[in-house]
Parts: sequence; C-alpha cells; structure tokens
Amino acid sequence: MEDLKGLSRRSLLQAGAVAAVGASGFIPSRFAIGASAKVKVGFLLPYSGTYAGLGEAITNGFKMAMAEHGGKLGDREVEFIAVDDESNPAKGPENTNKLVTGENVDFVVGPVHSGVALGMVKVVRESGTIAVIANAGAGAATGPLCAPNIFRTSFTNYQASFPMGKVAMERGLKNVVTMTWKYAAGEEALAGFEASFTKYGGKVIKQIMVPFPQEEFQANLTEIASLKPDGVFVFFAGAGALKFVKDYAAAGLKPIQLMGSGFLTDGVLKAQGEAAEGILTTLHYADALDTAENKTFRANYAKAFAKEADVYAVQGYDAAQLLLQGMGAVKGDTGAKAELIAAMEKAVIKSPRGAFTLSKAHNPVQDFYLRQVKNGHEVVLSVAEKALADPATGCKMA
Ligand code: PHB
Repeated sequence: MEDLKGLSRRSLLQAGAVAAVGASGFIPSRFAIGASAKVKVGFLLPYSGTYAGLGEAITNGFKMAMAEHGGKLGDREVEFIAVDDESNPAKGPENTNKLVTGENVDFVVGPVHSGVALGMVKVVRESGTIAVIANAGAGAATGPLCAPNIFRTSFTNYQASFPMGKVAMERGLKNVVTMTWKYAAGEEALAGFEASFTKYGGKVIKQIMVPFPQEEFQANLTEIASLKPDGVFVFFAGAGALKFVKDYAAAGLKPIQLMGSGFLTDGVLKAQGEAAEGILTTLHYADALDTAENKTFRANYAKAFAKEADVYAVQGYDAAQLLLQGMGAVKGDTGAKAELIAAMEKAVIKSPRGAFTLSKAHNPVQDFYLRQVKNGHEVVLSVAEKALADPATGCKMA
C-alpha cells in the first residue's frame, strides 16, 4: 500500500499535476507537504568517550559529501539531528527511539559501537526507518538481523580481521596471542582472524579479553611478554587504540610483531608516533591510496576540517553518497520506500577506498589492503583480499 501511494505521488509530481489535483484528495496533498519539508537525518554516534573522535569523523565525512551536492537529498533541504550514543549498548534502543519516535527522522546514520548497533537494529526493524550503519561491524546486522531497511557502508568485524590470518602465516608468525575488548566487535574480530590463521596452520596460544572501554593494559602486557609469542593480533580503536599501542611499545614488546585490523592505527597514527612503527594491519581503506577520488577527498577534508581524513570519515562520506543516490532516484519522495531501497541496493559507491557495491545482505563487497606503518605513514603493501564479501550467515531478506 505504501509503495502504491509512493508511486502515485511521484508520478503525479512528474506530470506536473500536483496543483491540478491537490484539492481532490489525500495522496497529492500529502506529497506536496512532503516535498517541501526538510529531510530529517538523525546521527546516532558517539560524541563522548573512547570513540568520540570516530563519531566526529563520520559526521564530518557525511556533511562534506552533502555540501558537495548542494546540501540536498533528492532536491530537498536536509536537517541534521545528532544524539550522543556514548557507545553505551544499554542505551542503544532508547537513543535510537529519540530519533525514530521523538524526531520522526527519515534516516538514521550510525553507530560506531556494535552493541549500540544491535539495539538500533531492533528498533528500526520495527519502525521500518532506513538505517545506514556508518561503522559498527556487528555481523548480525547484515546476518540474522538483516532487513530491507538496514544498510551498511563500513565493514563487518569479520571482514576487517579475516585477511590478517593468512598474512601472519606467510610471515612465519605461527604462535600468536590475541587481545581485545570483550564485546561483539572484539569477539568477532578475533574470530575472523582466527578462522583464516588456523586454516593456514597457525596457533592462538592465548586469547585475552578486557572490559570495554578499559584502557589499563599493563598486567596483560606483562603476561604477553612472558608467553613469548611470534606475534600479537588485537582489535582496539579510538582512544583505546592510541593507549594500547603506546603501552605496548613502552613495555618493550616491539620486537614481537603487532598486528590488527586497521582501526588500531586509523585516526590515531600521528598521536601514536614512534610507537606505531612497523605495525601491520588490514583495512578497507588506506590514506595513501593513489586514486583521484581519494586525493580529492583527502584534500577537501583537510581544508574543511583542518584534520586528516581517516577510515571513519570515508564511511560517513559514503553513507551520504548512498543516500544521495537513493534519494536522487526517487526525487526526494521518502514515501516511495520500496523504490528508494531498490535504488540503494543497486548503488555503486565511488568511494575514496575504491568503488564498491553492496551484497544481498546490504554490506559492502570491497578490497582489503595490507598496510604497514613506515616512517610515520601508513604504507600500502598489497591488496590482501580482493572483493571480500561477508558470509552474511543467517540473513534472510523478507
Ligand atoms: C564496533 O564496535 O563494531 C567497532 C568500533 C570501532 C571500530 C570498529 C568497529 O573502529
């Protein structure tokens, strides 16, 4: 029913017939109001805590893409409403509802934290609000909890960590300690690494989990030193990643190869300084990617925000690109939801990371780069996995 209404409203507009039939019934007048109203985009992102910098970068990236397109979605003005999700999973549903019910937003963009994402997914599956996950890698969001109105422009935790298992074995790092924060993202990241690492014959000799967002690592680093592994694989991000890398170096562990998903250094590389030298990571982005899109993106971002862009800024930028394409296709008619979703499903995103499309589960199918910090810069060593898709186990689109 909603689709039929959407179609009629749009075709009426295309025929220039809105004025003629405006008085005759509910459908055209509702469309006329809708067409002149602002599109409401709600940001559900961390603006405080260990992931605050990530929320800011996503917001900046999103707004930059919008500014490049005259600030409009489908020719309609846009209003932004931001909620600080505090990376607090317990408040995930409540904070999502502030946007969905309280503000009646057309789109939710966010979050960073996988636990918050699971709460958000629960709410938007009920409301039908279109959500674009601009970071959180929780596999369930594009797995068992996938839905036509849930999209992601980032990655799954599995995707970002899986490629490093093979790399570790190729480098002769056979006995590895893994470490992370104990919550969905960390657990899935370690599982992704372990799946490929053990397949190639590697052995995880110890798995260490600390509570999120704890940044006290000393006792664990002492234990790692005593275990004498060939390498250490971790998932940390934001302020926690900055602290971990500094503590790792200060504990004298640098001779033991440190590896991770690229969140370990992205956005915090400069602040990590010397401590980050030599770290090996895999990620769907790298500052140094030599493409016109990436160079322009980075130059514009630096100019607009007096900061270097990072993977989070890219994911925010691409979330906006996805909405721009979808809303362009339906000429701003958010009531034409089925067509809007269909256009988003078909989108080809010309991302600074390289062009990507979405899988059937609405998750990017993308290349993962092997990167290493050399002289303070993230150097791209190779493409570790080409067009890697998440297995999307359990996803059944309604
Ligand atoms: C997550 O919680 O899914 C998460 C958070 C920060 C990252 C990556 C993944 O950098």
